[in-house]
Amino acid sequence: MGLKFPNRVGLAAGLDKNGTAIDGLGSLGLGFLEVGTVTPRPQPGNPKPRMFRLPEHQAIINRMGFNNAGIDALRERLRQVRYRGILGINIGKNFGTPIERAVDDYLHCLDKAYAVASYVTVNVSSPNTRNLRQLQGASELDALLGALKSRQARLADQHGKYVPLALKIAPDLDQHQIINIADALRRHRLDAVIATNTTMGREGVETSPLAAEAGGLSGAPCSRNRPP
Ligand SMILES: Cc1cc2nc3c(=O)[nH]c(=O)nc-3n(C[C@H](O)[C@H](O)[C@H](O)COP(=O)(O)O)c2cc1C
Repeated sequence: MGLKFPNRVGLAAGLDKNGTAIDGLGSLGLGFLEVGTVTPRPQPGNPKPRMFRLPEHQAIINRMGFNNAGIDALRERLRQVRYRGILGINIGKNFGTPIERAVDDYLHCLDKAYAVASYVTVNVSSPNTRNLRQLQGASELDALLGALKSRQARLADQHGKYVPLALKIAPDLDQHQIINIADALRRHRLDAVIATNTTMGREGVETSPLAAEAGGLSGAPCSRNRPP
């Protein structure tokens, strides 16, 4: 990505969705912070309860649904931040935006995030926004990445700096989908891939009374399922 990370351990998206704890988190010595997912407009996310801890499995199931205060609120907050380390901004689409218009939401967020981000993550892999993961499909991804890369080139000119783009993908992809995505990443010269978001699978937590809760599973069982 052309970024020099001070160390390998960073904070993934989802803990500090609105960038309200950047200075505190920054003082922990992490190699980077990724805030978001943020969407163009604020939205409440799913009704509670929407996060479930499975301590016996070192896991979490969540269906937060991109609860966030919107990209404008994040920008406002970043004006007050002292942290000068690597800051990723993870962007997504609003719940109410039809999937055919998703590209507009990502472009809107990229425009607003560009000046203040070290890198921007394009989140197409949350299981908690209806149809979002469809954007990992060949034609949808092609259109999305094409639009984002040309906007990135324009923004790089305007701002006199190049802000890399990362694509965050789901772990629930078959070989064919992975090949398609890898091909699109190379063709569009995406700068990075973030693997992975939470899984729809329940492997390793079958015995938990919470296994039937809808949402994405993360933590130890998710990491174990990752291919080496
Ligand atoms: C409560 C919760 C909220 C999350 N919210 C987001 C999010 O808004 N955007 C995103 O890209 N990933 C989100 N994630 C996924 C994490 O960033 C990470 O990709 C996932 O938890 C897998 O890594 P892990 O097993 O090390 O936790 C969330 C995860 C959790 C547990």
